[in-house]
Amino acid sequence: MTALQEPRTTRHAGPETLVLSEHPVFRRFWYAVCAVDDVRTEVEPGRRGAAPLHRTVLGTDLVVWRPDPAGPVSVAHDRCAHRDAPLSMGWVADCHLVCPYHGWEWDKDGLTQRIPQFPGAPHPTKSGLTMVRSQERYGLVWVCLATDAEGGPVADIPEVVEWDDPAWRQVPEGSWDFDCTAMHLVENNIDPGHVAFVHMNSFGNPDNPELTDQNVQRTPYGLITWTDVPVEGRPGEDGATVRHTWSQVHLPFFMHLLIRYPDGLGHVMLKAITPVDDSHCTIHQVVLRTDTEADRPAADIRAFDHQVELEDKALLDRLPDEFPLAQHLNAHAKADKNSLLLRRMYTELVTGAWIPTPHPTTAVETR
Ligand code: FES
Ligand SMILES: [Fe+2]
Repeated sequence: MTALQEPRTTRHAGPETLVLSEHPVFRRFWYAVCAVDDVRTEVEPGRRGAAPLHRTVLGTDLVVWRPDPAGPVSVAHDRCAHRDAPLSMGWVADCHLVCPYHGWEWDKDGLTQRIPQFPGAPHPTKSGLTMVRSQERYGLVWVCLATDAEGGPVADIPEVVEWDDPAWRQVPEGSWDFDCTAMHLVENNIDPGHVAFVHMNSFGNPDNPELTDQNVQRTPYGLITWTDVPVEGRPGEDGATVRHTWSQVHLPFFMHLLIRYPDGLGHVMLKAITPVDDSHCTIHQVVLRTDTEADRPAADIRAFDHQVELEDKALLDRLPDEFPLAQHLNAHAKADKNSLLLRRMYTELVTGAWIPTPHPTTAVETR
């Protein structure tokens, strides 16, 4: 045995690589598509109504709009049943979504309300929208593509225990687009070894790359890993310290990272990673902190994480489009325990050997 601890090799029972579109099970989870505040209800200058949004999830184009300023969002496939126009080019007026091509209108449930050329004529069958499940949570709009016939959602959006706790303030951060698979981005976020190198211009130090052994366990929802990561600073502050980090992955792509610093400061990162298609993803990120705005302005926290995300993006955007599941496709070292378990769990998910069960993001601080 060399200094590099070779992991035990087990027979790989499943596809060698993971291509999301080949596995309908991924349609059965909730993914964030935008911030709640991104869905506008005021009339756009020069337009006849508010502008709906276009988003893509698992290769499916969606239109997101808020029919009533006081009501919930609606989400539908972004294609008009009449002549296939993208509905996201239309507008929202009088609680109706209006198609930009011939002006047909639908209500919040996607039922046809108006065909302006012959208003008295009956509406054709199949003129309604193909609606998609949606809900608003943690300041984000979430969708699940699976229809009832597909079984609907496997699990609800994880309950974040800090969200309603007054000891934690909320810092919405925004989203970043990546030209890599959602799996690569999850893997990156539980990879303690890259911090010293990829983040050498923010909080990493390539001259201090050594790690203490990380712990990783399977859970009913995915996995939890905890370890100490040496860092050169934290948002808005210089000075070396240690992040005691507990990272939960709620498969497939939702993450809850709890960071404790030696002075007791708590910092939670909610990472809602959305598979845009087989080779692109978007991360929507919300931070929760135990300090106050006076202690550390939200602008400092956002600026820090913006730099960190761009550092990851520069690297991840250049990775291959295939996400490896079989062990023999890569070399692995001791620091890759998390990655190996993650790949095994994706394998079990796509082969039907395991399915996640919902679980709150209990603030585990196991040591
Ligand atoms: S394509 Fe939408 S109304 Fe004709
Ligand atoms: Fe990173």
